[in-house]
Amino acid sequence: VDSTNNYAKTIAASGAPHGTAVIADTQTGGRGRLGRSFLSPPGAGLYLSVVLRPQVDSAQALLLTSAAAVAVCRAVDRFVKAPAQIKWVNDVYLGGKKLCGILTEAVSDLESGHVEFVVIGIGINLTCAAFPEELKEIAVSLEEYREGKVGRGALAAAVLEELEQVCGQLDTAAFMQEYKRRSCVIGKRVKAIRAGISREVFIEDIDDTGALLVRNEAGEPECINSGEISIRFF
Ligand code: BTN
Repeated sequence: VDSTNNYAKTIAASGAPHGTAVIADTQTGGRGRLGRSFLSPPGAGLYLSVVLRPQVDSAQALLLTSAAAVAVCRAVDRFVKAPAQIKWVNDVYLGGKKLCGILTEAVSDLESGHVEFVVIGIGINLTCAAFPEELKEIAVSLEEYREGKVGRGALAAAVLEELEQVCGQLDTAAFMQEYKRRSCVIGKRVKAIRAGISREVFIEDIDDTGALLVRNEAGEPECINSGEISIRFF
């Protein structure tokens, strides 16, 4: 496939049921957040997209992004000893490098607020061997934290199990405590980038909607709920 998310969206539009999973060995057009590409060489990772039809309003559905990050961390913890951490908004890190990216896409009715379906796309590195040098500097794989190989089937099963758990908690957002506990950005000075504008902020906390509570350069409190942050320069 070009992208498991594209494939999942196509079959979801023709009625694929809640819980349908699409898994590829490789992707020719793997997609990341903010229009970026996601390198997906054959056999190098788990490339998984899940179709969800959550029976919640759009505000609660937004929490799926944070929920998916927690689910991936719990699944990764089953395979390695180092604790999986979350870099806002939903990258999963091991030892300070990116292990997994998550791309959440939704189709909803803007007038009623009804969410027709959500596709959660998850890419977890199993090996970085085929990555270019500049990517190897910022990416990590499960292979580096484990003696034996991690089977993609077993990893996919673990992710799907954990995803099912957290998806049942969208009404209470019970997983947000764990999201915060696993965050590697709280208490850090970072570069916040939104609409091409970058500035330095200090992250004080993350609220229960997943938004960053920060102090800006003028020392004023602010809430950031879109864009991205960079922790590499501080
Ligand atoms: C990111 O890091 O910006 C998000 C990356 C998401 C990659 C996964 S791999 C499976 C699914 N299919 C895609 O095209 N993207 C997601």
